[in-house]
Amino acid sequence: MTTRKPLIAGNWKMNGLLGDGAALAKSLTERMGKGGETASLELLVCPPFTLIARIGEVLAGSAISLGGQDCHSKEKGAHTGDVSARMLADLGCRYVIVGHSERRTDHGESDALVAAKAAAAQAAKLCPIVCVGETESERDKGRTIEVVGRQIAGSVPGGSGAGNLVIAYEPVWAIGTGRTPTTPEVAEVHGRIREFLTGILGAEEAQMVRILYGGSMKPGNAAELLALADVDGGLVGGASLVADDFWAIARATPK
Ligand code: 13P
Repeated sequence: MTTRKPLIAGNWKMNGLLGDGAALAKSLTERMGKGGETASLELLVCPPFTLIARIGEVLAGSAISLGGQDCHSKEKGAHTGDVSARMLADLGCRYVIVGHSERRTDHGESDALVAAKAAAAQAAKLCPIVCVGETESERDKGRTIEVVGRQIAGSVPGGSGAGNLVIAYEPVWAIGTGRTPTTPEVAEVHGRIREFLTGILGAEEAQMVRILYGGSMKPGNAAELLALADVDGGLVGGASLVADDFWAIARATPK
């Protein structure tokens, strides 16, 4: 019997201005208040950097956690335009997404850099959500498990454990496309990710690490995905921008 508490995380990506971001966060706090879901589920929102302070004010006193979408690998210094993990922690963040495929593609981030960012997050007492996932051509060539295994081996820093690591499996071709792998395919990859983690962290820790699924998760497919044994929550993009949809996904989490 595992006791992994499901985590439903909203990645707002580069969306939201002060007004609509605050309104979205407020409607989530109102739902959370009514639902009393907190004991069985953790809800997280990851707004863009510009909104974190404001959304933190809106979420204050609620059970919804706050996270960043990226951080620098260094603690501070001459890195124009970058934000450190400590700065995020200072704003009340508990999590930070690292190695999202959009960062890997748009900014050429390597596994080694993702591992350094995750380590910086852990040093700042943030929990990194380390993203991995294959491209469509990698899947077509039957290389999904190999690619994901290599990303896990290269992106999870030493010193990680269930208390300071979350993995998100996000097939690149499923992000924002409305397409998802079949549930047996998701089950297979998540199971293999847990095996890879067992090799790195040992069985006991690996059993407790939460592995999220991301990529076109919607109210209509969430229940089926979240019911899988090694799917411990979701990393939700587009649907996290609509309070009703994000909440419906949260409600689809098995108790
Ligand atoms: P979508 O839910 O919009 O497919 O995005 C998934 C994602 O990239 C979350 O990080």
